[in-house]
This record gives sequence, structure tokens and C-alpha cells, in this order.
Amino acid sequence: MEYRNKLVLAPMVRVGTLPFRLLAAEYGADITYGEEIIDHKLVKCERRFNEKLGSVDFVERGTGSVVFRTCDAEKNRVVFQIGTSNAVRALKAAEIVCKDVTAVDINMGCPKSFSVSGGMGAALLTKPDLIHDDTVELARRIEKTGVTALAVHGRKVEDRPRDPAKWSEIADVVASLSIPVIANGDVFEYEDFQRIKVATGTSSVMVARGALWNASIFCPKGKLPWEDVKREYVRKSILWDNDIKSTKHTLREMITHHSSLELAEGKAVIKSESLIDLARLYGAENYEVVQN
Ligand SMILES: Cc1cc2nc3c(=O)[nH]c(=O)nc-3n(C[C@H](O)[C@H](O)[C@H](O)COP(=O)(O)O)c2cc1C
Repeated sequence: MEYRNKLVLAPMVRVGTLPFRLLAAEYGADITYGEEIIDHKLVKCERRFNEKLGSVDFVERGTGSVVFRTCDAEKNRVVFQIGTSNAVRALKAAEIVCKDVTAVDINMGCPKSFSVSGGMGAALLTKPDLIHDDTVELARRIEKTGVTALAVHGRKVEDRPRDPAKWSEIADVVASLSIPVIANGDVFEYEDFQRIKVATGTSSVMVARGALWNASIFCPKGKLPWEDVKREYVRKSILWDNDIKSTKHTLREMITHHSSLELAEGKAVIKSESLIDLARLYGAENYEVVQN
């Protein structure tokens, strides 16, 4: 995979499962990240081919829960993101999925306390052997480890999502590295892809919230109505037997942004207990609900 000139769906916990990734790709995303999965969890999984769905599932031994589901159609564009605090375990986890994905990414950016208190995510940026107050120097050190590309989110750990992403600081990293840098932060319209490319000097761009709110942000012709995108997401979730919690979470995020959870639709989504309930709600009863 070449990481130049790419539009990238960012990793998003409980959102970036197979149906959402396929949706974003259908609208034009070249690379689609899965949600962060913690290495401890992945090492407990075994790979199974799911004949009913035609998917490859990584299933947790004991609980039987599907930790990661992918399929052949996305093999050349899906990036698996690992949450880790330990290189040996991360490698073990990467080895489990590496044949079914195009790349493995290490999350070094998550500022949430769950990640940082476990020595993962943004905590990796302050590991004693990596301490350096200069982001560019740190990026150079990461480049030297042999990674093929580096995605940079232009916010500091203490910044909130509403604080503007600092595109000029991403530009400093781009100027200092020779590997491709994927710029991330505050892309909400198709035109923003070009704006961030110009501002940072890189050709690949990653988007999270803009895609969560309307996955058709990747369409060069402009966004489709979010209602249509949402229905297509529900359809795909049913086709791929997506986890109900993840499906509801994603729908809630979309509805919160465009409408309100207090209205009838939002309340019905909250009450839904299964994909069958969601199929009824969105008039998608004609899609067969395939269960594991
Ligand atoms: C709902 C949601 C879930 C996220 N989950 C992850 C994750 O699993 N791993 C990660 O590295 N970043 C995660 N992020 C951060 C995004 O990938 C991205 O870096 C950040 O939202 C900035 O991009 P944006 O301005 O396009 O939203 C998440 C963000 C959101 C909104």
C-alpha cells in the first residue's frame, strides 16, 4: 500500500466496524481504519472463516465474541489499529491479523484515561526512552523505527475536540520526514481535504468526525443527505450482522449531531435491542438478518 494521495477513514472506537468501513469506502475512502483493539484482547482470539457471511472473524476464545470482523473486499485497504503498552505483545497481536489486513497501526494518540492509565495511546509519547519535548524529533525517531507512514492528529493531549487542530504543526512534521504523513484534524467538508493538503504539504488526509456524521464526505460530488447515508449504514450493519451495541452507538452519534435523541427516532434507537428492531425501525425488514 502506498500512503500518498489517500483519503483515510480515521480509527473510531465502536464506530469503525466492517459496515461503517465498507460504507466509507463505497463513498470514496481509499484506506479505512478499524476501531482500536487492545492487544490483550486480540491475543485471546482465533481466526475463523464465517461461511454464512463470507467474512473473516477474530473470535475471543471462551466468550465467543467477535472482536474484529473483516472481509476479502477490504483486505487491501483496511488498517488494524492496536492499543498497546508492550512491544512484544503488540507484535504477537499484529501477527494474528496481519495476513488479513493491509497494515497495522499503533495508537499513540488516544488521550482518554483508560488508554493513558494503561500505558497505551498518548502515554507512549511520554515513555522515558522516548521523552522529547519536540514533536518533530519524536516523529523522526518514529520514522527511524521503519514504519511506512505516520498519521498525525494536530492536537495536544490536553486539547479538546472543539479546539482547532493545528495544521501548521502537522506541516512541521511533514517537512521533516521522508515517509508519507497522513494529516488529521477538522476535516468536515470535501473541500477541507484540499485545504489541509495545502496547509500541511502532505497528500493524504484522515477524517474521523466528519465521516461519522456523514460518511459520504469522501464523495467528490458532494455529500449525500445524511438520512440516506444512515439507512445505508443500517442496511450494511444487518447484512454483516454487526454488533448491536456498535450499531446503536454509531446511529446515536449521527442522530445527536443532526437531530436529537429526544425525538421519536432517537428514543426508538435507544430502545432497540437487536438488529431486527433496527430493521423494523428503518424499513429494512427485507434484508435478511444473518446471525452467527
Ligand atoms: C467517536 C470517536 C472514536 C475515536 N476512536 C479512536 C480510536 O479508536 N483510535 C484513535 O487513534 N483515535 C480515535 N479517535 C480520534 C480520531 O481518530 C481523530 O484522530 C480525531 O477525532 C481528530 O479527527 P477529526 O477532527 O477528523 O475528528 C476517535 C474519535 C472519535 C470522534
